[in-house]
Amino acid sequence: MVAMNRQVLLASRPQGAVTAGNFRLVDTAVPEMGPGDVLVRNEWLSLDPYMRGRMSDAKSYVPPAQIGEVMVGQTVGEILESNDARFVPGDRVLTQLGWQLYGVAKAGEVRKIDTARAPASYYLGLLGMPGMTAWFGLFDIGQPKAGETVVVSAAAGAVGSTVGQLAKLKGCRVVGIAGGAAKCEYVARELGFDACVDYKRGTLYDDLRSACPDGVDIDFENVGGEVLDTTLRVMNRHSRIVVCGLISEYSATESYGYKRLRSVLVNRIRMQGMIVFDWKHRYGEALAGLGGYLAEGKLKYRESVTDGIDNAPKALIGLLRGENFGKQLVKLA
Ligand SMILES: NC(=O)c1ccc[n+]([C@@H]2O[C@H](COP(=O)([O-])OP(=O)(O)OC[C@H]3O[C@@H](n4cnc5c(N)ncnc54)[C@H](OP(=O)(O)O)[C@@H]3O)[C@@H](O)[C@H]2O)c1
Repeated sequence: MVAMNRQVLLASRPQGAVTAGNFRLVDTAVPEMGPGDVLVRNEWLSLDPYMRGRMSDAKSYVPPAQIGEVMVGQTVGEILESNDARFVPGDRVLTQLGWQLYGVAKAGEVRKIDTARAPASYYLGLLGMPGMTAWFGLFDIGQPKAGETVVVSAAAGAVGSTVGQLAKLKGCRVVGIAGGAAKCEYVARELGFDACVDYKRGTLYDDLRSACPDGVDIDFENVGGEVLDTTLRVMNRHSRIVVCGLISEYSATESYGYKRLRSVLVNRIRMQGMIVFDWKHRYGEALAGLGGYLAEGKLKYRESVTDGIDNAPKALIGLLRGENFGKQLVKLA
């Protein structure tokens, strides 16, 4: 039987940037199991940019996390005990149990993962929510055709790195945008993008123009703000913008004032927001596609691992500053 649980609670809502004081670490008993429950020992916690939104009480597409409650998040872990015939101890599952070492969930709320196919942590990244986001955002909304030019921001990250590699597999010219020389070198050399532009150099417009001589047909937007406003200047007629994320704005206290929306009008750009849950009924499709490419060695994937639940707040703060390099995870066990 499990003795003690450790949890990270939301202690207060951030004003601007997230701080360590927004979290509280507690040791507590593991809840009793009821009929139909499973007890899970969490092994990996996923940290994701959306968590900044959940810490705030501004209106969004899902209700906010509550003060004093366990911070929300996906984990993968091992079933220790099961009161449901579908699971046995030792099964590995994907959960929504959040920032804690152990948790009790309804069996219907966890999903079995196949660790023979890929390491458990991949189900939080390439084969998980970020991978699904890349797949449906690019293919359903972006609709890439061979020969088109695709620009992807936050290109070294979980979503961006997958989008760019999938677009390459479709025969597109792919240009990443990332922060710093090391990330750009990784994107261009290791991930095989045609080019990568370092937005921190302060010459984004000129660099994008020279990296995209035929203009841009798809912008897979993960960052927003100045990166999006600048990309709007190089978009082609009848191009598409997949508004996947606006991370540069998540901790801002004032919204960014966009100046280039005229490009949407004159170029007849189709600009569409996406929330990956809308494709929930089709996750199997993306899992099969991404898993297939992974097995064929056609997708590269990188993780940024922080050790221990006590360090999870620091790791989220780092993620929201761009300090991660690849999918940000916390190793819990
Ligand atoms: N719509 C959906 O359903 C959905 C689902 C998943 C993710 N998303 C969005 O997709 C984007 C990428 O998510 P991810 O999980 O793949 O994260 P990630 O790219 O692995 O990590 C976030 C990255 O954003 C970049 N970034 C750019 N400008 C930044 C700024 N001003 N401040 C902080 N970071 C900045 C940083 O990379 P650089 O060092 O290169 O700047 C950072 O490493 C996020 O906007 C996220 O909200 C949306």
